[in-house]
Formats: sequence, structure tokens, C-alpha cells
Amino acid sequence: MFFFFSEKSYLCTNFQPQRAAIQPIETTMLIDKIDALLKEVSELQASNAAEIEQLRLKYLSKKGEINALMAEFRNVAADEKKTLGVKINELKQMAFAKINELKEQAETQETGSDDIDLTRTAYPYMLGTRHPLSIVKNEIIDIFHRMGFSLAEGPEIDDDLHIFTKLNFAADHPARDMQDTFFVRQSDDDVTKNVLLRSHTSNDQTQYMESHQPPIRVICPGRVYRNEAISARAHCFFHQVEGLYVDKNVSFTDLKQVLLTFAREFFGPDTKIRLRPSYFPFTEPSAEMDISCHICGGTGCGFCKHTGWVEILGCGMVDPNVLDACGIDSKVYSGYAFGMGVERITNLKYRVADLRMFSENDVRFLKEFEAAY
Ligand code: PHE
Repeated sequence: MFFFFSEKSYLCTNFQPQRAAIQPIETTMLIDKIDALLKEVSELQASNAAEIEQLRLKYLSKKGEINALMAEFRNVAADEKKTLGVKINELKQMAFAKINELKEQAETQETGSDDIDLTRTAYPYMLGTRHPLSIVKNEIIDIFHRMGFSLAEGPEIDDDLHIFTKLNFAADHPARDMQDTFFVRQSDDDVTKNVLLRSHTSNDQTQYMESHQPPIRVICPGRVYRNEAISARAHCFFHQVEGLYVDKNVSFTDLKQVLLTFAREFFGPDTKIRLRPSYFPFTEPSAEMDISCHICGGTGCGFCKHTGWVEILGCGMVDPNVLDACGIDSKVYSGYAFGMGVERITNLKYRVADLRMFSENDVRFLKEFEAAY
């Protein structure tokens, strides 16, 4: 190595060589070295944490390349320091950034290295179970779907016009009473404008008939509300599935056959049905349908109160007044309708002791239906 001392140094009596300043040729070499390192660092590659650590030690540790450059930098002539300092800084920053980038890459990318065990069982994934009412509702829809019924759903909050008036309810029918129904808004001058939580899904029929002409063949599932004290046998809301068929020459025989097919599909091929005369404002004639008790096979047990029969739904021929009120010519068309409670059908199938269990969200209860669909 050459040392060029200043004249002043020679003149010193007590001669002590000053720290030698690196002269241009050395500076050029240093610049070349930094440039080479810049290139090297910009191209760094590593595939795992251990390799990255090696690179960190090589460039950024106390004994690393950059610190070694700093030692040389101290000897650089003052007027060269600025340019070189900038370059070394650039190198240092690039080394930091590159090593961090490699670390991030290693953390996010799947390296396929030995520390990933592809044979390990997957993390447990908690699957929910379908609610028993949904299972039964879907089964009912499915059976009617196969008989050509399509789905039509209406609003849970509707006006009196669609829930009662167009369905031929008398002005003094008890369902129109506050005691039996939840009213959302009451109109002072026009009772048909009262707004309420529907007490049955029959409003789907009026809504549908208003906007469709026959042939109509729909199934209407949904939630309904009644002002009942909550107990094991009653709730203030429950679910219904209602059916409506309107066309030319529809008769009671069609209704009976469709319901018999449903009962046999749902409760088993040996199921018998019986229709008892009843009354609904919107059907004439009307009937309640019982099925032979599928627990005792009709011989009589505690479940069917020793009658051999259990009631499952209401039905009848659509009253001509209803058809006319909804814009369907009752002289040309006739139809039938039926409606059943989903909770009731579910209880017949699964014998749930307390109706409240359906809405308590007790996972232990819901889990019991895991295998049911
Ligand atoms: N809407 C009736 C009820 O809520 C059921 C029903 C529907 C009866 C259609 C006959 C015809 O009880």
C-alpha cells in the first residue's frame, strides 16, 4: 500500500504519520467493490430461513461485508467521502430491503419443504346442521315439486286486504281481533289498510293470484304469527306450507288424490287419509285431513289419543269469492287449496316433546338431526 504524506507532515518535529487518506486509485477500487456488492445484493436468492440468516450474517452483521466497507470508508479522502457515503448507504438500504423481502417471501410461500406435512389430517371444520323444520319443509316442498307445484313466497308483513279481506273473512272474524293477531299499523278509516304480521300463509295465494292467471299450481312455505301464550304446545310464531291449484275443471277428487300421494310419500306407503268436513272462510267445501296414526298403525295409542287418527292439515275448494276478488273468473276456473303446520308435521315425524325447542337454538337438540338429511 502507498502512503502519500503531506508536506506538512514531514515538517513535524514529532513525526507521527496521520491517518492516511485513500487516494484516487484506492477510491476507484472501493467504488468498484461497492458496485459489485450492489449487483450481488440485488440478485440475492434464498429458499428458507436458514439461508436467509446466512445472507444476513454475510452482509449486515458486525463482521459482514458492509461493515468492512465502512472501515475502509473512514480512510477515504474528505472530498470523496460524500459520493462514497451515498453509495455505501444505498448498498446498506438495499441489503436490508432485500433480506426483508426474502423473509416475507419465505413466510408466505409454500416452500414444499420438509416442515410441511401434507399427510397430516386437516384442521377440524365445524359444520352446522340443518334445522329440523327446514329438513321437513324441504321434504314437503320436494314431494309437491315432483307433482308439478312450483314455489311462491309472499310477505310476512302484509295488509288486511291480502291476509283477510280477499280471502273472504267476515268483518267480525276473530282473527281480525287484536287478541289473536299482531297488528303493525291500524288505519282509522279503512280496515283493509291495516298492516299486520300474517296469521297464515294464505296471503301468498291472494298475492299470487293477483299477478298470475291460471293454470296456477304453487306451494307457499313461510313463517306465520299468532298472538298465543307460549307453551310446550303453542308459540307466537310457527311455519306453514300452503298449496294452491287453480285451473279449468279442478275438482275435490284432484285435491284428495294429491293429498293422499303426499301423505304416502311423507309418512309411508301404508298411510291412510280421512277428510272431515270443516270450515274456512276461503274454501267451500272445507275439510280437515287426518292420517292413520303411523306410530300404532291405526290401532290406537297414546299419541293418537286412541283414535287411530292424527290431524295434519286443512283444505278445501277455493271459494269463488276469493277467485273473483283476485281477478280470476270463478265461472271459468275452479281450484283447491290446503295448508299445514310444519311444526306439527315435524312433531309427527320426530316426536319433539316441546315446541319451544325449535326456537331455542340449543345445539344439543339441533345436533340430533345431523343425520336426518
Ligand atoms: N290458512 C289455514 C290455516 O291457517 C289453512 C288452510 C289453507 C286451510 C288452505 C284450507 C285451505 O289454518
